[in-house]
Amino acid sequence: MLEVESLHKRYGDLVAVHDVSFTAHPGEMVGLLGPNGAGKTTTVGMIAGLLPPDGGQVRIGGGLVCSETDPVKRRMGLVPQELALHDELSARDNLALFGALYRLSGADLRASIDRNLDLVGLADRAKDRAAHFSGGMKRRLNLAAALLHDPDILLLDEPTVGVDPQSRNAIFANLEELKRRGKTLVYTTHYMEEAERLCDRIIIIDHGRVIANDTLDAVRRLVPNVNLLQLEIENPGEGEWFAAVRTLPGVDAADMENHTLRVRLDNLLDASPRVFGWLRDNGYRCSHIASQRADLETVFLTLTGRSVRNA
Ligand SMILES: Nc1ncnc2c1ncn2[C@@H]1O[C@H](COP(=O)(O)OP(=O)(O)OP(=O)(O)O)[C@@H](O)[C@H]1O
Ligand SMILES: [Mg+2]
Repeated sequence: MLEVESLHKRYGDLVAVHDVSFTAHPGEMVGLLGPNGAGKTTTVGMIAGLLPPDGGQVRIGGGLVCSETDPVKRRMGLVPQELALHDELSARDNLALFGALYRLSGADLRASIDRNLDLVGLADRAKDRAAHFSGGMKRRLNLAAALLHDPDILLLDEPTVGVDPQSRNAIFANLEELKRRGKTLVYTTHYMEEAERLCDRIIIIDHGRVIANDTLDAVRRLVPNVNLLQLEIENPGEGEWFAAVRTLPGVDAADMENHTLRVRLDNLLDASPRVFGWLRDNGYRCSHIASQRADLETVFLTLTGRSVRNA
């Protein structure tokens, strides 16, 4: 178990991290979510022991992580935000270099490299130079590097930045597998949808402070119902016909984008039937109906008053 207790970090007058605490259990993925400059990398750097905190402490399995050379640190692996690969070296040689940092050698190192290249789907590219890898493949190699010494705790700092959707899905599948194997994962991102898809627990940080720390469901409950209905209209036709939907009782807003009609209601149960009835009576056909949950974007906006994208 990873326990982060009241971490603080200052850079001159700037408080980059203020009283950040959380716990992560084996088999759990904790999402550290926040906009640019929120303090995510600083927090992860302090947990990994790369940055000395100005206050607070980190425990692993109850034991305090003390110094640079603390053997407890070996139980952690870090996938850094900045790629740490040597372009001129092959994938295998890059991993051998990382393995040496963890004092792995010989048959153990070779077996670990093979196992982890396999995990990230790069076994057939082992001899290729990193320079010839796509951004997504480099990220996957970076993940393999962090796993060589088989850490119990994996810290991932925005591991999908600049990654194509296919590699992104491959990385997600890897992380889900690691979770099944009982690893503890801390996943830093500013993509709301990534945290929603992957994380059991979500910590939202803003200007170095934790503004929410709870399960995904509980974080969603922090914001009022969005009461948004989405309907796929098969025959939308032309014009602003949906303006008539806005005049129905209980409808606050209605807009159309491509084939999707989005209707904001004051109460889902009361007002939805009126919308359905109006559409049916006016000859519209509907192929799909969904109501939208508050996404984390909305949660962030509610908690901070600012959008994540331009925070
Ligand atoms: N070495 C440093 N010296 C001075 N200020 C720093 C240093 N490193 C980070 N900061 C500042 O600390 C704050 C937190 O930065 P940090 O890199 O932790 O944010 P982040 O949440 O990881 O952001 P991003 O999403 O952009 O990676 C920012 O205001 C940043 O400018
Ligand atoms: Mg960062």
